[in-house]
Amino acid sequence: MPRVLSCIQPTGSVHLGNYLGALVNWVSGQHDGDVFHGIVDLHALTVIDTPGLIGTQTLELAALLFACGLDPDVATVFVQSHIHEHTELAWIMECTVSFGELSRMTQFKDKSARREAEFVSAGLFTYPALQAADILLYDADEVPVGDDQRQHIEITRDIAVRFNHRFGDTFILPKAVHPKAGARVMDLQDPTSKMSKSATSDSGLVYLLDDNASISRKFKRAVTDSDSEVKYDIANKPGISNLLDILSASTGKPVGELVSQYSQYGALKSDTGDAVIAVVEPIRTRFQELMQDKGELARLLSIGNERARNVAAVTLQRAHNAIGLLPRI
Ligand code: TYM
Repeated sequence: MPRVLSCIQPTGSVHLGNYLGALVNWVSGQHDGDVFHGIVDLHALTVIDTPGLIGTQTLELAALLFACGLDPDVATVFVQSHIHEHTELAWIMECTVSFGELSRMTQFKDKSARREAEFVSAGLFTYPALQAADILLYDADEVPVGDDQRQHIEITRDIAVRFNHRFGDTFILPKAVHPKAGARVMDLQDPTSKMSKSATSDSGLVYLLDDNASISRKFKRAVTDSDSEVKYDIANKPGISNLLDILSASTGKPVGELVSQYSQYGALKSDTGDAVIAVVEPIRTRFQELMQDKGELARLLSIGNERARNVAAVTLQRAHNAIGLLPRI
């Protein structure tokens, strides 16, 4: 059974990109591997500085992950800041990655440029070292993520190779796994940019907890083009291609089959909205039920934390031994 690990930040509401790009695969893959899923609250610190916010968002995200179908008896769902091994290994990772490698990360360049008038923390720059620690601590073979995380998994592999070369075989080299449809869900108002929590406006983002009327409205107002041919062509028809991808990922039907069913943009937009509603409505209902019992949610997280801690502690010790740090006295 492969060891699978993937994580998500509690930086606000979960959107359709997170769901179709990552969470669907987490849920469908939970019986095919030994799976670990982290709520990475320390990563969220790179962009959130409001007191009291991250904890609440962490609990809500846990409820949403269970509502999406992660089974706490099968999947290990944990909170990053509760497992101190993450930050300890992150320092070792920082000493194994170069300034040049971190400077080439497109996510850092994008995010720091967007925050030009705001505080840009050193954590935003060293973020990939913490992400490498998240992955390598669990000896992950596979990391199911959306397309935007490709570079982060590549740098994790580079760090692991360098560490293993310096100190002897210690870490497993992970491989990114991307879904066939939904790996890159684009903003409905700007279909050349990925759907992202850091977008300047919410109008092109569909959240899992949006009500049905808002979801329909957002799809009806999706930006397309002045032509009227339904065709899958990302370069020339990014809006239509995005709708076809979302419809395909939500219904399981291949894009090729869907293209031939539509001759008008209006029908494609409303059917895509309906297909998304059919997917998210039951999740929203289950989320609301789970949020009624916060004690139970905390109990489920404590079980996940303990399982995660047991694995992480062994790997960190292995890294210490490989480096030859003086054993604890
Ligand atoms: P985050 O929290 O931004 O996103 C969580 C997951 O959602 C995917 N995703 C998308 N997929 C398709 N289309 C989109 N528009 C879209 N937007 C987001 C992401 O690819 C991701 O799989 N750095 C990570 C969190 C992280 C992590 C890790 C992931 C920290 N440590 C270890 C995997 C393994 C992030 O910011 O994801």
